[in-house]
Formats: sequence, C-alpha cells, structure tokens
Amino acid sequence: MAIQRTLSIIKPDAVAKNVIGQIIARFEGAGLKVVAGRLVHLSAAEAGQFYAVHKERPFFKDLVEFMISGPVFVQVLEGEDAIAKNRDLMGATDPKKAEPGTIRADFAESIDANAVHGSDAPETAAVEIAFFFPGMNVYSR
Ligand code: PPS
Repeated sequence: MAIQRTLSIIKPDAVAKNVIGQIIARFEGAGLKVVAGRLVHLSAAEAGQFYAVHKERPFFKDLVEFMISGPVFVQVLEGEDAIAKNRDLMGATDPKKAEPGTIRADFAESIDANAVHGSDAPETAAVEIAFFFPGMNVYSR
C-alpha cells in the first residue's frame, strides 16, 4: 500500500471544544504522522476558495460562515493509505450516521459543525495541501 499525504482540518467547533490533542491522538494511534500543522483563522475569501467546489450547494454560505467562526487547525497527515485511513477515522459527514468510535461520532454536533475535514482523493489532497502549505511535497508514493 502506498505512503500518502492528506490534508486534515480540525474545524472551529472542535478547536473551541479544546479537543485538538484528542483528535490528533486518533490519527497518531492509527499510524498517521503529522508532518505539518498550524492554527489559522480563515477569511471568508479563503474559506470560499477552499470550498469553491461546493459553491452552488445550498449549504455553501453556512459552510463558509461556520469555517470562519473561529480558528481551525490545518495539518498534513502522512502514512500508508493516509487518504482513506483519515476518512475512515473521521466517520460519515453527518455525525448521526457516523460509526461509533469515529471522530465525528465522538466530537461532532451536526452535519454543519462536524469537527473535521479530510481530502477525499489524491488529486484533491495535492490541491488542498498546496492551498495551506505552498511548496510542500504532496507526494503519494
Ligand atoms: S457531498 O454531498 O458528498 O458533496 O457532501 P460532502 O462532500 O460529504 O460534504 C461537503 C462539505 O460540506 C459540508 N457541509 C454539508 N454537507 C452536506 N449537507 C450540509 N447541510 C452541510 N453543511 C456543511 C460537509 O461537512 C463537507 O465539508 P468537509 O469539510 O469537506 O467535510
């Protein structure tokens, strides 16, 4: 299985709950390594650009407002099959549908405030890592 890098965001709800460390412990416990990370308070323009793929969706405005409501912790995770592994650890978008023991089941309140984001494919991981960490190696090997 390939060693990959993926972008993870710990969203404003989880940062406000003071569970950054508990969430990172889930990643580390599953064999993923944090190879870059920083706390950032996004502007509306930055959040809109990051989620541009969803700009026609009915929830776009609320999503941007939520993502700028407080600081987020952006990080790059590296490990075997990191993209799928991160998504498995996160659980379903809607925490009510997330498997018990997943990050969203344990820390998220609602589909709008759902604790974490993770890249969904190698192509999006490359774009999303470059968005927050320009110049960083985005390899999948
Ligand atoms: S979809 O329908 O498969 O495109 O949805 P998904 O990729 O899982 O989610 C898109 C992002 O929008 C956030 N979001 C919502 N999705 C669906 N419905 C509502 N109401 C909603 N509100 C916000 C969702 O959390 C996804 O954000 P990220 O950061 O990618 O997880």
